[in-house]
Amino acid sequence: MSRRIREGEVEIQSKLKEIQFRKSIRFPSTTHATFGLYRYPAKFIPHVIAYILSKYSKPEMSIFDPFAGYGTVGVISRLYANDYELWDLNPLLGILHRISIMKPISVEINGIFKDLISNRKEFLPDWPRIEYWYPSQFISFFSQVWGYYHSLPENEIKMILTIPLLKVSRYFSFDDSQRQKLSRSSRSIKRIENLLELDWKKKFYELLESEINRVLKGIVEYQRLFPCDVKFNILAGVDSLKQELKEEKDILITSPPYLQSQEYIRQAKLDLFWLGYKEEYIKQLSKLEIPYRDIDPIDIYSKTYEQYLGQINEVHIKKVFQRYFWGVLGALTRLQEKITSYLFLFVGHASSRGISIPIDKIFVEHFSKLGWRYEITLVDKIVSRRLFSYKINPASGRPDARTKVENLVILKRR
Ligand SMILES: C[S@@+](CC[C@H](N)C(=O)[O-])C[C@H]1O[C@@H](n2cnc3c(N)ncnc32)[C@H](O)[C@@H]1O
Repeated sequence: MSRRIREGEVEIQSKLKEIQFRKSIRFPSTTHATFGLYRYPAKFIPHVIAYILSKYSKPEMSIFDPFAGYGTVGVISRLYANDYELWDLNPLLGILHRISIMKPISVEINGIFKDLISNRKEFLPDWPRIEYWYPSQFISFFSQVWGYYHSLPENEIKMILTIPLLKVSRYFSFDDSQRQKLSRSSRSIKRIENLLELDWKKKFYELLESEINRVLKGIVEYQRLFPCDVKFNILAGVDSLKQELKEEKDILITSPPYLQSQEYIRQAKLDLFWLGYKEEYIKQLSKLEIPYRDIDPIDIYSKTYEQYLGQINEVHIKKVFQRYFWGVLGALTRLQEKITSYLFLFVGHASSRGISIPIDKIFVEHFSKLGWRYEITLVDKIVSRRLFSYKINPASGRPDARTKVENLVILKRR
């Protein structure tokens, strides 16, 4: 097999150390405070970020996450008095983050329910497919519920209601939340059939009340951790491949999208529609997700990358592989120019056609060429985030060998 070796390609021996982040830092639990309010796919557990900031940051340092998802990096940065900036393609980042850092308020739930019941305003998502996701009885009910939500002023009560309403609206839909993307299943159809036989409006209010209480409790717990008022900037709905970082940052911490997944916008779709986002906009966002979009090639300074690329025969798999690295490393190569101290890159081992790809090693080799000193890779074998997993990988039809371990690659500016 012949392969072209680019000038400057490097190969670096991995320095691996096993760790259990959950046990390495004192932190109440993965869902404590506001960390578990919304099930964002592949969310960081708070321990990972707390571990990094406790060991590597000083209060005056600024932290940056260009693929921030739920925004855990920002929520923990406040606990260490670090300024921060978060970006994500998913517009939910902005809303979820605002809720996660809210100050406690008191809420009169019965008053809200009274207003909700007497509300006559309606809101229907800009989505012809909505009828596929709800039985007709639920559509008219939820259009009034969301009519009430959208009639509220942009205040704290509205924020407190957001996650509970999203969750309950999903529970009443045909979506099977255990699946990777929005999809109906026999399990979810059964759930809806059962609901229709109950006093489902009563069930709706019971669930909503318990979810509101969960948010209120989480917010109180978060404030008990003594977050600091720091400077922060959130860019939600932006493409990190094109976005410019205006100011230098000390530390970049991120977990980029996975090699075989394009689930975030699709997974968030139902929520985005209820929140009022337009179908055309959501489609545009979906097209920007890595790794299925068209992307300009970049030089990747890694022998390991070339070796694995050489093992893939199918043209379309090769394309996904290349686009993934061009996309993620393209964005990070540009952004690292403005990072002054450390890169923390949290990646799993993905597999392509049954071959496990050492993404962490490829990242290490590439950044070593760009002026970063490789410190270590911390390997957490307890899968600490909620990852989507299939018994059979839908792309290859083989048993799933995707992300089983998670590696934190640490690189220091030379
Ligand atoms: C592994 S997740 C990050 C999860 C995050 N660490 C957390 O704690 O929730 C990767 C993120 O990359 C985002 N993403 C994918 N393509 C993107 C793009 N072109 N620009 C910005 N973000 C993108 C996805 O929306 C997703 O939130």
